Amino acid sequence: MKRVITYGTYDLLHFGHINLLKRAKKLGDYLIVALSTDEFNLKEKNKKSYFSYNKRKDLLEAIRYVDLVIPEEDWDQKINDIKEFKIDTFVIGDDWKGKFDFLKEYCDVVYLPRTPEISTTQIKKDLKK
Ligand code: CTP
Repeated sequence: MKRVITYGTYDLLHFGHINLLKRAKKLGDYLIVALSTDEFNLKEKNKKSYFSYNKRKDLLEAIRYVDLVIPEEDWDQKINDIKEFKIDTFVIGDDWKGKFDFLKEYCDVVYLPRTPEISTTQIKKDLKK
């Protein structure tokens, strides 16, 4: 069984997220999403999510492409996750292109093209208009 992992915040779930998860699942048989916790978002990404970790987790678990959701609490957990969950492929949107090449020592690394013209940030901006 081929196991795939991806990381992200997935706040205000939108079709760019679904499109990423759909393509990520196609790279294997079992997809794990490491979901940024509220603390990690605040401390490390300087962003406050609209939906809490538990709500974002519930939404992701309802998506057919997602097999397991685990917390992302630390930038440095990826190598441990890859070993612990016997990951074959790490995948993420190409806004991170090149940033995770150091993981190639442990598994395949794939950057998928982002879906154009949609992001959580854009939704928040548009709702403020
Ligand atoms: N993603 C994508 N296409 C988009 C938006 C996001 O493929 N239009 C991907 C990202 O590249 C990442 C995953 O979805 O692999 C989760 O992204 P996240 O940062 O949670 O979503 P964004 O909408 O990019 O949020 P923000 O605007 O806060 O950065």
